[in-house]
Amino acid sequence: MRSFLGRDILSLKDVERDDYFRIFQVAEELRPHAENRRNGDLLKHKTLLTAFYQPSTRTRLSTEAAMHRLGGHVLGFSDAKMTRAGDFYQESMKDTVKMLEYYGDVIAMRHHVQGAPHEAARWASVPVINCGDGWGEHPTQVLTDLYTIWRDKGTLDGLKVLCVGDMRMRTMHSILYASSQFDMEAFVVSPPELSLLDEFKGELAERSVNYREVESVEECIADADVIYMEPVVQADYTQSRVDPTAEKGTTPAAYQVTRRLLQEKAKQDSIVLHSLPRMDELTTDVDSTRHARYWAEAANGVSLRMALLALVLGAIE
Ligand code: CP
Repeated sequence: MRSFLGRDILSLKDVERDDYFRIFQVAEELRPHAENRRNGDLLKHKTLLTAFYQPSTRTRLSTEAAMHRLGGHVLGFSDAKMTRAGDFYQESMKDTVKMLEYYGDVIAMRHHVQGAPHEAARWASVPVINCGDGWGEHPTQVLTDLYTIWRDKGTLDGLKVLCVGDMRMRTMHSILYASSQFDMEAFVVSPPELSLLDEFKGELAERSVNYREVESVEECIADADVIYMEPVVQADYTQSRVDPTAEKGTTPAAYQVTRRLLQEKAKQDSIVLHSLPRMDELTTDVDSTRHARYWAEAANGVSLRMALLALVLGAIE
Protein backbone atom coordinates (compact mmCIF):
# COMPACT_ATOMS: atom_id res chain seq x y z
CA MET A 1 0.00 0.00 0.00
CA ARG A 2 1.29 3.46 -0.92
CA SER A 3 1.84 5.86 1.97
CA PHE A 4 -0.82 8.53 2.37
CA LEU A 5 1.65 11.07 3.74
CA GLY A 6 1.61 14.14 1.50
CA ARG A 7 -0.68 12.41 -1.00
CA ASP A 8 -3.20 14.39 -3.07
CA ILE A 9 -6.72 12.95 -3.02
CA LEU A 10 -7.89 13.93 -6.49
CA SER A 11 -9.56 10.89 -7.99
CA LEU A 12 -10.66 7.40 -7.06
CA LYS A 13 -9.11 6.08 -10.29
CA ASP A 14 -5.82 5.55 -8.50
CA VAL A 15 -7.11 4.43 -5.08
CA GLU A 16 -6.53 0.72 -4.55
CA ARG A 17 -8.53 -1.82 -2.59
CA ASP A 18 -6.22 -1.84 0.46
CA ASP A 19 -6.25 1.96 0.57
CA TYR A 20 -10.02 1.96 1.09
CA PHE A 21 -9.82 -0.40 4.04
CA ARG A 22 -6.95 1.54 5.62
CA ILE A 23 -8.98 4.77 5.37
CA PHE A 24 -12.03 3.03 6.90
CA GLN A 25 -9.90 1.59 9.72
CA VAL A 26 -8.56 5.05 10.60
CA ALA A 27 -12.08 6.51 10.35
CA GLU A 28 -13.21 3.91 12.92
CA GLU A 29 -10.30 4.86 15.21
CA LEU A 30 -11.13 8.55 15.04
CA ARG A 31 -14.90 8.15 15.05
CA PRO A 32 -15.31 8.62 18.84
CA HIS A 33 -14.30 12.29 18.47
CA ALA A 34 -17.36 12.87 16.29
CA GLU A 35 -19.73 10.53 18.13
CA ASN A 36 -18.85 11.85 21.58
CA ARG A 37 -18.60 15.44 20.34
CA ARG A 38 -15.17 15.78 21.91
CA ASN A 39 -12.40 17.50 20.02
CA GLY A 40 -8.94 15.96 20.29
CA ASP A 41 -5.50 17.36 19.56
CA LEU A 42 -4.06 15.04 16.90
CA LEU A 43 -3.74 17.87 14.36
CA LYS A 44 -3.25 20.77 16.77
CA HIS A 45 -0.17 21.94 14.88
CA LYS A 46 -1.82 21.80 11.46
CA THR A 47 -4.06 24.10 9.41
CA LEU A 48 -6.65 23.22 6.79
CA LEU A 49 -7.33 25.69 4.01
CA THR A 50 -10.72 25.38 2.30
CA ALA A 51 -10.88 26.92 -1.20
CA PHE A 52 -14.47 26.55 -2.37
CA TYR A 53 -15.25 28.08 -5.77
CA GLN A 54 -18.70 26.50 -5.81
CA PRO A 55 -21.43 26.28 -3.14
CA SER A 56 -21.40 23.43 -0.65
CA THR A 57 -23.16 22.61 2.58
CA ARG A 58 -21.95 19.12 3.52
CA THR A 59 -18.52 18.80 1.95
CA ARG A 60 -17.03 22.05 3.18
CA LEU A 61 -18.59 21.99 6.62
CA SER A 62 -17.85 18.32 7.30
CA THR A 63 -14.23 18.78 6.20
CA GLU A 64 -13.93 21.79 8.47
CA ALA A 65 -15.71 19.92 11.28
CA ALA A 66 -13.27 17.04 10.83
CA MET A 67 -10.31 19.38 11.22
CA HIS A 68 -11.83 20.99 14.32
CA ARG A 69 -12.57 17.56 15.81
CA LEU A 70 -8.86 16.77 15.53
CA GLY A 71 -7.84 20.06 17.16
CA GLY A 72 -6.55 21.61 13.94
CA HIS A 73 -7.06 25.09 12.58
CA VAL A 74 -9.22 26.12 9.63
CA LEU A 75 -9.28 29.08 7.27
CA GLY A 76 -10.52 29.62 3.75
CA PHE A 77 -13.17 31.01 1.47
CA SER A 78 -16.54 29.79 0.32
CA ASP A 79 -17.15 32.55 -2.21
CA ALA A 80 -14.39 32.95 -4.79
CA LYS A 81 -15.92 36.27 -5.90
CA MET A 82 -14.59 37.71 -2.65
CA THR A 83 -11.06 36.68 -3.63
CA ARG A 84 -8.81 37.96 -6.43
CA ALA A 85 -9.46 34.72 -8.33
CA GLY A 86 -13.07 35.78 -8.75
CA ASP A 87 -12.93 39.54 -9.26
CA PHE A 88 -11.39 41.91 -11.84
CA TYR A 89 -8.02 40.13 -11.75
CA GLN A 90 -9.25 36.53 -12.31
CA GLU A 91 -6.00 35.42 -10.68
CA SER A 92 -4.77 32.12 -12.10
CA MET A 93 -4.81 28.83 -10.24
CA LYS A 94 -1.02 28.82 -10.13
CA ASP A 95 -0.81 32.31 -8.62
CA THR A 96 -3.59 31.54 -6.14
CA VAL A 97 -2.13 28.24 -4.98
CA LYS A 98 1.35 29.72 -4.68
CA MET A 99 -0.15 31.83 -1.86
CA LEU A 100 -2.49 29.27 -0.34
CA GLU A 101 0.27 26.69 0.19
CA TYR A 102 1.89 29.04 2.71
CA TYR A 103 -1.35 29.65 4.60
CA GLY A 104 -2.29 26.02 5.25
CA ASP A 105 -0.83 22.51 5.44
CA VAL A 106 -3.53 20.90 3.29
CA ILE A 107 -5.90 22.45 0.74
CA ALA A 108 -9.48 21.19 0.32
CA MET A 109 -10.83 22.51 -2.99
CA ARG A 110 -14.16 22.50 -4.77
CA HIS A 111 -14.28 24.00 -8.25
CA HIS A 112 -16.73 24.27 -11.14
CA VAL A 113 -13.97 23.50 -13.65
CA GLN A 114 -13.22 19.82 -14.08
CA GLY A 115 -9.55 19.19 -13.27
CA ALA A 116 -9.04 22.45 -11.32
CA PRO A 117 -7.93 20.64 -8.11
CA HIS A 118 -5.48 18.62 -10.25
CA GLU A 119 -4.10 21.89 -11.62
CA ALA A 120 -3.83 23.20 -8.03
CA ALA A 121 -1.95 20.04 -7.03
CA ARG A 122 0.61 20.67 -9.78
CA TRP A 123 1.62 23.89 -8.07
CA ALA A 124 1.02 23.15 -4.39
CA SER A 125 3.71 21.76 -2.12
CA VAL A 126 0.99 20.62 0.29
CA PRO A 127 -1.65 17.92 -0.32
CA VAL A 128 -4.75 18.91 -2.27
CA ILE A 129 -8.09 17.20 -1.61
CA ASN A 130 -10.64 17.32 -4.42
CA CYS A 131 -14.00 18.20 -2.87
CA GLY A 132 -15.83 18.03 -6.22
CA ASP A 133 -14.66 19.34 -9.62
CA GLY A 134 -17.29 20.20 -12.24
CA TRP A 135 -18.69 17.01 -13.72
CA GLY A 136 -15.40 15.30 -12.83
CA GLU A 137 -15.21 13.43 -9.54
CA HIS A 138 -16.13 13.69 -5.87
CA PRO A 139 -13.70 11.36 -4.11
CA THR A 140 -14.37 12.32 -0.48
CA GLN A 141 -18.13 11.90 -0.93
CA VAL A 142 -17.77 8.46 -2.46
CA LEU A 143 -15.22 7.39 0.16
CA THR A 144 -17.87 8.42 2.69
CA ASP A 145 -20.53 6.45 0.80
CA LEU A 146 -18.40 3.31 0.58
CA TYR A 147 -17.55 3.65 4.27
CA THR A 148 -21.28 3.88 5.02
CA ILE A 149 -21.99 0.74 2.96
CA TRP A 150 -19.07 -1.13 4.53
CA ARG A 151 -20.25 -0.26 8.06
CA ASP A 152 -23.76 -1.42 7.23
CA LYS A 153 -23.05 -4.54 5.18
CA GLY A 154 -19.68 -5.49 6.68
CA THR A 155 -18.26 -5.86 3.17
CA LEU A 156 -18.01 -4.19 -0.23
CA ASP A 157 -17.87 -7.49 -2.08
CA GLY A 158 -20.76 -9.45 -3.50
CA LEU A 159 -23.03 -6.39 -3.56
CA LYS A 160 -25.39 -5.23 -6.28
CA VAL A 161 -25.52 -1.44 -6.44
CA LEU A 162 -28.29 0.39 -8.25
CA CYS A 163 -26.99 3.81 -9.39
CA VAL A 164 -29.81 6.14 -10.38
CA GLY A 165 -29.69 9.76 -11.50
CA ASP A 166 -27.66 12.00 -13.77
CA MET A 167 -24.71 9.92 -14.93
CA ARG A 168 -22.69 13.05 -15.75
CA MET A 169 -22.58 13.61 -11.99
CA ARG A 170 -19.20 13.47 -10.29
CA THR A 171 -20.30 11.04 -7.58
CA MET A 172 -21.42 8.57 -10.25
CA HIS A 173 -18.00 8.73 -11.90
CA SER A 174 -16.17 8.17 -8.61
CA ILE A 175 -18.36 5.30 -7.42
CA LEU A 176 -18.08 3.46 -10.73
CA TYR A 177 -14.29 3.87 -10.75
CA ALA A 178 -14.18 2.63 -7.15
CA SER A 179 -16.36 -0.38 -7.90
CA SER A 180 -13.52 -1.84 -10.00
CA GLN A 181 -11.69 -2.59 -6.74
CA PHE A 182 -14.49 -4.76 -5.35
CA ASP A 183 -16.66 -7.64 -6.42
CA MET A 184 -19.57 -5.29 -7.17
CA GLU A 185 -22.20 -5.32 -9.87
CA ALA A 186 -23.82 -2.01 -10.80
CA PHE A 187 -27.17 -1.29 -12.44
CA VAL A 188 -27.11 2.16 -14.02
CA VAL A 189 -30.43 3.97 -14.48
CA SER A 190 -30.70 7.46 -15.99
CA PRO A 191 -32.73 9.42 -18.52
CA PRO A 192 -31.19 8.85 -21.99
CA GLU A 193 -29.98 12.45 -22.24
CA LEU A 194 -28.17 12.11 -18.88
CA SER A 195 -26.63 8.70 -19.52
CA LEU A 196 -22.98 7.67 -19.25
CA LEU A 197 -20.80 9.45 -21.81
CA ASP A 198 -18.98 7.26 -24.35
CA GLU A 199 -15.60 8.48 -23.16
CA PHE A 200 -16.45 7.45 -19.60
CA LYS A 201 -17.78 4.09 -20.77
CA GLY A 202 -14.40 3.52 -22.41
CA GLU A 203 -12.68 4.12 -19.08
CA LEU A 204 -15.07 1.74 -17.32
CA ALA A 205 -14.32 -0.93 -19.91
CA GLU A 206 -10.56 -0.44 -19.39
CA ARG A 207 -11.09 -0.97 -15.65
CA SER A 208 -13.36 -4.00 -16.16
CA VAL A 209 -16.17 -2.34 -14.23
CA ASN A 210 -19.13 -4.70 -14.01
CA TYR A 211 -22.22 -2.63 -14.89
CA ARG A 212 -25.37 -2.83 -16.93
CA GLU A 213 -27.59 0.02 -18.15
CA VAL A 214 -31.24 -0.49 -17.19
CA GLU A 215 -34.25 1.63 -18.15
CA SER A 216 -35.99 2.11 -14.82
CA VAL A 217 -35.50 1.71 -11.09
CA GLU A 218 -38.50 -0.59 -10.96
CA GLU A 219 -36.80 -3.04 -13.32
CA CYS A 220 -33.84 -3.76 -11.02
CA ILE A 221 -34.66 -2.55 -7.50
CA ALA A 222 -35.58 -6.08 -6.34
CA ASP A 223 -31.98 -7.21 -6.89
CA ALA A 224 -30.24 -4.21 -5.33
CA ASP A 225 -28.42 -4.30 -2.00
CA VAL A 226 -27.60 -0.61 -2.26
CA ILE A 227 -29.63 2.10 -3.99
CA TYR A 228 -27.30 4.99 -4.77
CA MET A 229 -29.04 8.18 -5.85
CA GLU A 230 -28.48 11.57 -7.42
CA PRO A 231 -31.07 13.98 -8.84
CA VAL A 232 -31.93 14.07 -12.52
CA VAL A 233 -33.29 17.59 -12.06
CA GLN A 234 -30.25 19.53 -11.02
CA ALA A 235 -27.85 22.41 -11.38
CA ASP A 236 -25.17 22.81 -14.05
CA TYR A 237 -22.02 21.76 -12.22
CA THR A 238 -19.78 23.64 -14.65
CA GLN A 239 -21.14 26.93 -13.24
CA SER A 240 -19.69 28.55 -10.14
CA ARG A 241 -23.22 29.15 -8.86
CA VAL A 242 -26.69 28.53 -10.25
CA ASP A 243 -29.56 30.62 -8.92
CA PRO A 244 -32.87 28.85 -8.36
CA THR A 245 -35.50 29.18 -11.04
CA ALA A 246 -39.25 29.11 -10.58
CA GLU A 247 -39.52 26.21 -13.06
CA LYS A 248 -37.51 23.21 -11.96
CA GLY A 249 -39.33 20.28 -13.53
CA THR A 250 -40.16 17.01 -11.88
CA THR A 251 -38.50 13.62 -11.87
CA PRO A 252 -40.13 10.94 -14.04
CA ALA A 253 -41.26 7.87 -12.05
CA ALA A 254 -38.64 5.67 -13.74
CA TYR A 255 -35.92 7.51 -11.82
CA GLN A 256 -37.69 7.95 -8.48
CA VAL A 257 -37.47 6.00 -5.24
CA THR A 258 -40.53 6.18 -3.01
CA ARG A 259 -41.61 4.42 0.15
CA ARG A 260 -44.22 2.51 -1.80
CA LEU A 261 -41.72 1.22 -4.35
CA LEU A 262 -39.40 0.11 -1.55
CA GLN A 263 -42.26 -1.64 0.27
CA GLU A 264 -43.48 -3.42 -2.85
CA LYS A 265 -40.24 -4.32 -4.63
CA ALA A 266 -37.02 -3.78 -2.67
CA LYS A 267 -35.02 -6.28 -0.64
CA GLN A 268 -35.84 -6.02 3.06
CA ASP A 269 -32.24 -5.13 3.91
CA SER A 270 -31.49 -2.84 0.97
CA ILE A 271 -30.17 0.60 1.86
CA VAL A 272 -30.73 3.95 0.16
CA LEU A 273 -27.85 6.41 -0.12
CA HIS A 274 -28.06 9.93 -1.48
CA SER A 275 -25.22 12.42 -1.22
CA LEU A 276 -27.81 15.26 -1.08
CA PRO A 277 -29.16 17.82 -1.79
CA ARG A 278 -32.21 16.03 -3.20
CA MET A 279 -35.09 17.06 -5.38
CA ASP A 280 -38.19 14.88 -5.84
CA GLU A 281 -36.29 11.75 -6.98
CA LEU A 282 -36.13 10.60 -3.35
CA THR A 283 -39.43 11.30 -1.66
CA THR A 284 -39.39 12.36 1.97
CA ASP A 285 -41.61 9.43 2.97
CA VAL A 286 -38.49 7.24 2.59
CA ASP A 287 -36.83 9.12 5.49
CA SER A 288 -38.66 7.14 8.15
CA THR A 289 -38.11 3.72 6.55
CA ARG A 290 -35.43 1.22 7.58
CA HIS A 291 -33.83 1.70 4.16
CA ALA A 292 -32.72 5.33 4.62
CA ARG A 293 -29.00 5.81 5.21
CA TYR A 294 -28.43 9.36 3.94
CA TRP A 295 -28.29 10.93 7.39
CA ALA A 296 -25.79 8.27 8.46
CA GLU A 297 -23.87 9.14 5.31
CA ALA A 298 -23.74 12.80 6.33
CA ALA A 299 -22.52 11.87 9.83
CA ASN A 300 -19.95 9.41 8.47
CA GLY A 301 -18.53 12.19 6.31
CA VAL A 302 -16.93 13.75 9.37
CA SER A 303 -15.15 10.56 10.52
CA LEU A 304 -14.07 9.72 7.01
CA ARG A 305 -12.62 13.18 6.41
CA MET A 306 -10.87 13.06 9.81
CA ALA A 307 -9.17 9.90 8.57
CA LEU A 308 -8.11 11.52 5.29
CA LEU A 309 -6.72 14.60 7.00
CA ALA A 310 -4.83 12.55 9.61
CA LEU A 311 -3.37 10.30 6.91
CA VAL A 312 -2.29 12.91 4.36
CA LEU A 313 -0.85 15.08 7.11
CA GLY A 314 1.10 12.14 8.53
CA ALA A 315 -0.44 12.16 12.01
CA ILE A 316 -1.31 8.49 11.44
CA GLU A 317 0.81 6.20 9.25
N1 CP B 1 -22.94 15.92 -1.12
C1 CP B 1 -22.42 17.12 -1.41
O1 CP B 1 -21.40 17.24 -2.12
O2 CP B 1 -23.09 18.14 -0.82
P1 CP B 1 -22.64 19.65 -0.84
O3 CP B 1 -22.74 20.15 -2.26
O4 CP B 1 -23.58 20.37 0.09
O5 CP B 1 -21.21 19.69 -0.36
